[in-house]
Amino acid sequence: MNNKEIVAKAIFQAVQDDLTLEQVAQLLENPKSAEHGDVAFPAFSLAKIYRKAPQQIAADLAEKIDGKDFEKIEVVGPYLNFFMNKAMITEAVIGQIAKDKGHYGDSNIGGQGNVPIDMSSPNIAKPISMGHLRSTVIGNSLAYILEKIGYQPIRINHLGDWGTQFGKLIVAYKKWGSEEAVKNEPIAELLRLYVDFHEKAETEPELEEEARAWFKKLEEGNQEATELWQWFRTESLKEFDKIYAMLEISFDSYNGEAFYNDKMAEVVTMLEEKHLLTQNDGAEIVDLSAYDLNPALIKKSDGATLYITRDLAAAIYRKRTYDFAQSLYAVGNEQSNHFKQLKAVLKELGFDWADDMHHIPFGLITQGGKKLSTRKGKIVLLEKVLNEAVELANKQIMEKNPDLPNREEVAKQVGIGAVIFHDLKNDRLNNFDFVLDEVVRFEGETGPYVQYTHARSMSILRKADFTIDENKAYQLNDKDSWEVVKLLQKFPEVVLQAAERYEPSVIAKHAIQLAQAFNKYYAHVKILAEDEQKEARLALVFAMATILKEDLRLLGLHAPNEM
Ligand code: ARG
Repeated sequence: MNNKEIVAKAIFQAVQDDLTLEQVAQLLENPKSAEHGDVAFPAFSLAKIYRKAPQQIAADLAEKIDGKDFEKIEVVGPYLNFFMNKAMITEAVIGQIAKDKGHYGDSNIGGQGNVPIDMSSPNIAKPISMGHLRSTVIGNSLAYILEKIGYQPIRINHLGDWGTQFGKLIVAYKKWGSEEAVKNEPIAELLRLYVDFHEKAETEPELEEEARAWFKKLEEGNQEATELWQWFRTESLKEFDKIYAMLEISFDSYNGEAFYNDKMAEVVTMLEEKHLLTQNDGAEIVDLSAYDLNPALIKKSDGATLYITRDLAAAIYRKRTYDFAQSLYAVGNEQSNHFKQLKAVLKELGFDWADDMHHIPFGLITQGGKKLSTRKGKIVLLEKVLNEAVELANKQIMEKNPDLPNREEVAKQVGIGAVIFHDLKNDRLNNFDFVLDEVVRFEGETGPYVQYTHARSMSILRKADFTIDENKAYQLNDKDSWEVVKLLQKFPEVVLQAAERYEPSVIAKHAIQLAQAFNKYYAHVKILAEDEQKEARLALVFAMATILKEDLRLLGLHAPNEM
């Protein structure tokens, strides 16, 4: 039970039928400073019922409440300030973590329901962008968070592997490309061909016509076109997989846009049967003015289907295949309108489960305050960024701990972890600037700082040769540990909040707070001093390290034992 629940129960017992337990719980506040206790109850709302001044009510109530769970209950004007029985809660929290270990905070709220998560989803033959990185790490973290509360996440990489750009690529490759160059550096070469195509097409417009013809061939299953497309796809995926391997993220499905080619006719038929399609300049659209949205363009005048048509097929396919409890899309903010349209069209088709689909938007990563762009080949290569992060981490470890046995492994976990953590620590809708040196710092609100705090606590436990005993009552009675204990006690709530808001930053913020509180504790208290509370202090260190590691795991980071 958390502190608010304990306080709510105690007040409820004292006021009996005058307020319900929920009403009491709703009224409780978190005092701004520790001087005012751990939980506060404003007595104003009882003034009407009791026809007395709130101050008097607060004083009377303080007399009536059973104080066993509290150190003291203070009356300050109309407020009741509750100071929790720290010793009792500390013992309970450490005891629970000693038993549950990393499973502390697990629940089965999701009832094992499936949750497909559309994440990463880069476009073939183009570099994977910072935006795709965000989608990848946000989706991955949400998968861990939802799994912790009893859902079954399914990580889906909805590859952008279809569209008219493949006609352009085929033309460019046939005219100016070489097999060797593509094999050497697939993405860079394919991007170069694509950029070349656009430059040349400015003066040779007939190239566009050729590209259209090749895309048509591809759609009709022409062998040469299909083989080239397949090859571009395979080579691109090889490069994407290098990045996924560095991030240690894997997918349950790589069914991308092309997978839905043979599944769109059915969607179009459904739309026709429900008389939802209207003609507009030869194109077929669904009117969405009832939703205050622009019409959804389903088919172009030349018969080509569109992004949203494939997403309609994908949504229906996912419902049929996974019978999902929720279906998530970790995709940039700029596609919000697309997902609104997607849901609206599904609603028009009578699919009420569209309400279980959630777009999880996020902001931009900028550099020097500017948007990063793929155009004209000016791109930030993600692989390079990740390698540089590892390099920087390595350098710092060399300074701090030159004899670390598995330094390279740890440098990877710290460097890559730093990039992931930086991405997840701010509310996902915020834009943020990416400055590598700041990302990989060991101080401040960074991934390495949290990892370092974990490693430091593990080293204390090693030094003391401590093992936790889950049947023991650890009694700790020092005022400095309370901030740490409160954060540990709060963890299950923090997980729920992160899941409800689809917000990994809630976990990252908890990790930072816990690390900061622990470092303060460490600075004030001699953990290894030989006195009767040494064991209990070590048990607290164990509990803290366990939850810090779990925080990191939920974000997709390792927690090395030494660094
Ligand atoms: N490939 C798209 C892009 O890079 C993202 C796809 C997102 N997922 C989806 N089901 N539409 O912008």
